[in-house]
Amino acid sequence: METSRIGILGSGDVGRALGRGFARHGWDVKLGTRNPDELRTELGPTEADISVGTFAEAAAYGDVVILAVLGDAAEAVVELAGEANFSGKLVLDATNPLDFSSGVPHLSLGGTTSLGERIQEALPEASVVKCFNTVSNMQMVDPEFEAGTPPMFICGNDDDAKTQTEAILVELGWPGAMDVGDITSARYLEALVPLWVRVGSNLGTWKHAFTAVQ
Ligand SMILES: NC(=O)c1ccc[n+]([C@@H]2O[C@H](COP(=O)([O-])OP(=O)(O)OC[C@H]3O[C@@H](n4cnc5c(N)ncnc54)[C@H](OP(=O)(O)O)[C@@H]3O)[C@@H](O)[C@H]2O)c1
Repeated sequence: METSRIGILGSGDVGRALGRGFARHGWDVKLGTRNPDELRTELGPTEADISVGTFAEAAAYGDVVILAVLGDAAEAVVELAGEANFSGKLVLDATNPLDFSSGVPHLSLGGTTSLGERIQEALPEASVVKCFNTVSNMQMVDPEFEAGTPPMFICGNDDDAKTQTEAILVELGWPGAMDVGDITSARYLEALVPLWVRVGSNLGTWKHAFTAVQ
């Protein structure tokens, strides 16, 4: 694949799992964070292949950009990173708007809107594809499911961006993508996540995923 530079906004479990995974697959990776010096020290010399910068530097670096920050901070991070740094790019949105205040997560927004739609509205010159948000960070790259790996649920407004997303997913070890429509479908992909947590609690695993069977 021609594209080889990925900017990942986020230094938590998701940012790091995706950073390591993309690097393993030969991509040049930059992780974005509020505290690049701190993150550089944490990653250490063994992960020198993963470069680190501010949110703006990571967004500017990537031919493709991934948004992997706390849902409630996602819009602020996009603003901090600078709209121009996303312009004309595929933006994979892995975020979920979750409220953990009662212990188990609930959606902090939803129904007639979604974080995916709000990110797309904030980045009119970018093509936002909701992706990765319905699986564990442990399964995002080179997934392994006992019952077989299902396609990744994705949605977005731009068909070419979704085709590019599927090619990336295949490169990362997924069988493909299940396109569930335009970016308004992010309402339902985000709403799957509180259910995913409850199902995981019942099953005693965090490596599960949903799929459609017929
Ligand atoms: N954990 C999973 O397995 C999983 C799976 C699917 C989707 N997701 C979604 O992926 C996203 C990332 O999840 P995560 O588990 O990696 O950790 P997280 O704690 O949700 O996010 C960590 C990132 O959010 C940034 N952040 C937090 N508060 C901020 C603020 N006030 N202003 C700016 N940035 C802020 C942090 O910035 P710094 O780098 O500066 O600390 C860090 O980069 C979330 O939206 C989550 O719902 C998670």
